[in-house]
Amino acid sequence: MEQKIRGFIPYLPFFIPEAKNSAELAGEILDRAEMALPEVKVLAGGAGEGYSIRSTAGGYTVSGGDTGVLYGVHALLRSLYVKEPVREGEAVPYYPLRMLNHWDNMDGSVERGYAGLSLFFRNDRITWNETDMHRYGMMLSSTGINAVCLNNVNVHFPADRLITEDFLPELKKIADILRIYGVKLIISIDFSMPTRNGLDTADPLDERVARWWEKQTALVYSYIPDLAGYLVKADSEHRAGPYTYGRNHAEGANMLAKALKPFGGKLIWRCFVYDCGQDWRNHEIDRPKAAYDNYAWLDGQFDDNVILQIKNGPYDFQVREGVSPLLFAMPSTQKALEVQLAQEYTGHQIDLFFMAPQWQDIYDVMPKDKVQAICAVANVGDSVNWAGHDLALLNLYAFGSLAMTGEPRAEETAAAGAKLMFEDREAAETVKDMLLRSCRVYEDYASPFGLGWMVTPGLHYGVSCEGYEYDVWGTYHRANFEAVGIERGPGGTDMTSQYPEPLRSLYADIDTCPEELLLFFHRVRYDHVMKDGRTLLQRIYDNHFRGYEGAKELQARWLSLEGRIAEDVFLRIRDKFELQVANARRWCDTVNTYFYRHTGIPDEQGRKIWD
Ligand code: GCU
Repeated sequence: MEQKIRGFIPYLPFFIPEAKNSAELAGEILDRAEMALPEVKVLAGGAGEGYSIRSTAGGYTVSGGDTGVLYGVHALLRSLYVKEPVREGEAVPYYPLRMLNHWDNMDGSVERGYAGLSLFFRNDRITWNETDMHRYGMMLSSTGINAVCLNNVNVHFPADRLITEDFLPELKKIADILRIYGVKLIISIDFSMPTRNGLDTADPLDERVARWWEKQTALVYSYIPDLAGYLVKADSEHRAGPYTYGRNHAEGANMLAKALKPFGGKLIWRCFVYDCGQDWRNHEIDRPKAAYDNYAWLDGQFDDNVILQIKNGPYDFQVREGVSPLLFAMPSTQKALEVQLAQEYTGHQIDLFFMAPQWQDIYDVMPKDKVQAICAVANVGDSVNWAGHDLALLNLYAFGSLAMTGEPRAEETAAAGAKLMFEDREAAETVKDMLLRSCRVYEDYASPFGLGWMVTPGLHYGVSCEGYEYDVWGTYHRANFEAVGIERGPGGTDMTSQYPEPLRSLYADIDTCPEELLLFFHRVRYDHVMKDGRTLLQRIYDNHFRGYEGAKELQARWLSLEGRIAEDVFLRIRDKFELQVANARRWCDTVNTYFYRHTGIPDEQGRKIWD
């Protein structure tokens, strides 16, 4: 098998460590690092994740908890490798729980996976490569992720049996490896599991059901005593949940939380609940209101080991959405922010899309203390570069940094990530700029002003202006000859009322609504005059032309690096850019023609719009 790339840990070869715990591993990393090092002393003690780095006469001392020193050693080596000043002082991870969710199925496929097959499953078995598993753990620890769920939130047979003796002995082996890296397992469970194991119901208020989960959970913890907890997708996209039994989501979550409580486990409950069988003719239902409507009123009713996991936007990981209003609500409930590294709607790890600037936009309106934990849908698989696109791996790196610091730090992570991957300074500088521009370029050609959903149905790569327009998923833009978008202010679905002030008023008024979100919150006439004096229609045209040009510029910048970086990496990404530019052209032409046909109004600048 081809050796995978070193990615953002270039200073370490692939190896299976002798270390038995994180603190020993920190020392072993120093021994094995392939770079000249000053004297580094490691002082470990206790279970903490915090660390401090101090310079000494001959070098540095890294001290902290067992996992803390592992993080500290990686931070030190990163700085030394890129020859930048070492950041001395104390560091404590901002979010105590920093999770990755794989959407891997046990047949080896990955739902919304663009990086090859699963690293953990094949042919309905747990199957893994020992070197890769250690490297994967090393990557996670180097960027600070401390909990990982290997199986898909859509728990298909036989993944429902991961909590049984069919699979626990094998799962334990993975837990034992990842523990060395400070990473705990989470298991995605199926709410209806008791009904396939001797009970006629999975009603959370039925004592027999509660007992079943208690017994099963005790079994799980006998194999994996430090399991971080269960992850649950319930009453969502045809999955069973409390509603199936006439119960609310606090009743459902608390029953499972009680089973986990004696073992210190968390119940991570996803809030992706909406009507996925909507009639498009119905204007009363507005999908982005759903999560708030389902959960906000339950504040205070969840047990203290329940964490509600909420997607960053109220729709579904579109290029740009308003921040989910649920993230601002429920002050007495623990919440986790969920972002998606897997580029489902952002270019399938074919088109370049660095996410930290997008997270910056989220954190600009949602202060970090609104959530107590953070999670990302993973973007890695068994491909040679882990992420399908070499540069997409930096989204994983950037996510770890966000989880550790509570700050997206787009510039800093783009610069650091590029330097870790490319030794040549000029190449690193170019890649940094490309990363920082990439998500704006993609947004320009793929999603005008927060409209979203003009994607190929099912696949979600490439353009289809009305692919979801007459479907059941609640994802409509209702474009006609004079206007586009759904009115979500008080004169429409009133979704804006779900936000606290001052956001509520800001978004409700078409004149104060940030323009990049205009079509997310409002139905707008094409002749609406934007802040710079151009009409909405003209801006839609302009953005799409600019996006296509932007994609070509990114490509040209990449091609300029030929000879400066490893040839295999150069060629792989060169091929991706060919596809990206073709994709951008299709988006630009299709969307512009779509609106031209609706309006009959040509581009002011006389550029070619096909009819
Ligand atoms: C999206 C995605 C699904 C996924 C779901 C989820 O709808 O397309 O593949 O299962 O999100 O987050 O649960």
